[in-house]
Formats: sequence, structure tokens, C-alpha cells
Amino acid sequence: MKCTRCKKEAEVELKSHNAAFCRDCFLHFFENQVAKAIKTHKMFSKTDRVLIAVSGGKDSLTLWNVLLDLGYEADGLFINLGIDGFSEVAKGKVEKFAQSRGAKLITVNLADDGISIPEVKNKIRRPVCSLCGQVKRYYFNMIGLKNGYNVLATGHNLDDEVSRLFSNVLHWNMEYLEDQSPVLPDEEGLLKKVKPLYRVTEFDTSVYAFFKGLDFVDIECPFSKGATFTVYKKHLNQIEFFSPGTKIDFYQGFLKKLQPIMADDKNDSKNRCKICGYPTFSDICSVCRLKGYR
Ligand code: AMP
Ligand code: FES
Ligand code: ZN
Repeated sequence: MKCTRCKKEAEVELKSHNAAFCRDCFLHFFENQVAKAIKTHKMFSKTDRVLIAVSGGKDSLTLWNVLLDLGYEADGLFINLGIDGFSEVAKGKVEKFAQSRGAKLITVNLADDGISIPEVKNKIRRPVCSLCGQVKRYYFNMIGLKNGYNVLATGHNLDDEVSRLFSNVLHWNMEYLEDQSPVLPDEEGLLKKVKPLYRVTEFDTSVYAFFKGLDFVDIECPFSKGATFTVYKKHLNQIEFFSPGTKIDFYQGFLKKLQPIMADDKNDSKNRCKICGYPTFSDICSVCRLKGYR
């Protein structure tokens, strides 16, 4: 198989793009996909201060690497969840990366606020994952605003976005569909949020991380996320196998045809937390509640 771009021997085949690439051309393709996402959705420019939420996994480290290579001012934020045998390993990977690139890293310890994920898990009866997501998003926003960043970027890829869309459509979660987008503009108390990897798949990101020799954490969180998304990803990949390009078509179709209508119709009647000012549906946000405020 020959590289679609330079005709050298290809190392990767991407059926959804009807293409095959050698190593250099794949890296060029990958960076182009990220650059295109940033430009199309006006995510940020070279004058913006971007904060990247980095977990130590392949997606967020890939994102950080690409943004630095593309010449953006991008610092990292790591939230130490305090999970034994997991968080310390992840922290080590993030620190190693930051050091190797001479990049700035901010670290937050949830244990310092008395809400490490094992502590939270002991306080509640339902699975801790969804609350963990809320806590992380809260800190991404709070730390970003406090430190003067304009934009918060996460490492969500196409598979993350498509499986979430699929789940939201299956259950017709209208309020989640309204907010599903590669870019959410800033509003009072909320930082602009972007997902520059939304055009690339989990496979693409793995190949990028491998070609670049990125050292990332590949152990699963022991409280493992809802298996449902993993099941959806598996089924969506089966559909993709028989019909390459379906995932990106499904997602782009939503963004073009449905998302604008939903965003117009959006009913934003959020209150502000009376302790910290974070948008919430009740009078105290879930993080302040976890910290013991009633
Ligand atoms: P996940 O919800 O684990 O799939 O992660 C989605 C995105 O959230 C990642 O790509 C990161 O950008 C960010 N993220 C997840 N966990 C952390 C963490 N502990 N610290 C900072 N960012 C994180
Ligand atoms: Fe949050 Fe596992 S990463 S519960
Ligand atoms: Zn609050």
C-alpha cells in the first residue's frame, strides 16, 4: 500500500478518509485535522491563553503535544483525584511530559479540599464516576478563571463525542444534546470550552502517540467509568467497519442540522451557587455540597 500523499510505503490505512499514510504524512494529516477543528469552530488563536486539562492519558497528552507544536500558548492542568495506584502514576506521566517540553503545569489535589474521589465515594451510594466528572469540570473552570485563561481544552476525541451523542439520542436527553458541541462559548462564571480532537478517532490518537513516542498512563481508573459508553463505542466501531465514515458523518450531521436549532432553543435558567458563584440548578452547587455546605 502506498502513501496517498507522497507515494512512499504506507504504515497506516484510514478507511474513513479513503487514505493511507506513511509516518510523516500521517503526522501531517493528524495535525491538519486538529488545526481544521480549531479554525472551523474559532476555538482560539495564538493570542489566547489556553489551559489544557491533562489526565496523563494518550488523548490529553497528544492534544498538549500538538498544540505546542502548532505554536499555541498552552499550559496544562492536572487534577489529582487521590485514587490509590492510579493518580500518582498519571501525575508522574503528566509531570514528565511537561518537563520534557518545558511547559507550565498546574496541579490540584482534591484531597486538600477534603474531596478526593475515594472520600467522595464513601459519602454517596451511587457510582462515583458521574460525580467525579462534575468535580473535574468544576475545577477546570475555577482554576482556569482564577488564573486568567481564556479557553479550557479537553482531549475528547471523535469516539468520545459520537458515543455520547449516540447515548443522548437513544435516551433523548434534550438538555445534554443542547450542550453537545466541540465548542461552548463563555458565559458568566463559565470559561469557553473546546475539544480540538473531535475530528480524530481513538485509533488515530493512539497512532499519533505511538509515532511520537509519548509516554502515557494506560491503566484504567479502578472505579471504571460506566461500561455503557464502552459498549456503545464497540458497536459504533462495528458499524464503522462495515460503513467507513459513519462516525464522522453522524457527528457532523448533528452539528450541522440539529445542534444549531437546539442551541437557539436553549433554556438557560441556571442559578448561581450562593457559596462559590458556580452555575447550578439549585442554590448550592454539587461541589460545595460535597465540601459540607448545606
Ligand atoms: P475522561 O472523562 O476520563 O474520558 O476524560 C476526558 C478529558 O477530561 C480528558 O481528555 C482530559 O482532557 C480531561 N481529564 C480527565 N481526567 C483528568 C484529570 N484527572 N486531570 C485533568 N484533566 C482530566
Ligand atoms: Fe473519575 Fe474514575 S476517573 S471515577
Ligand atoms: Zn459552589
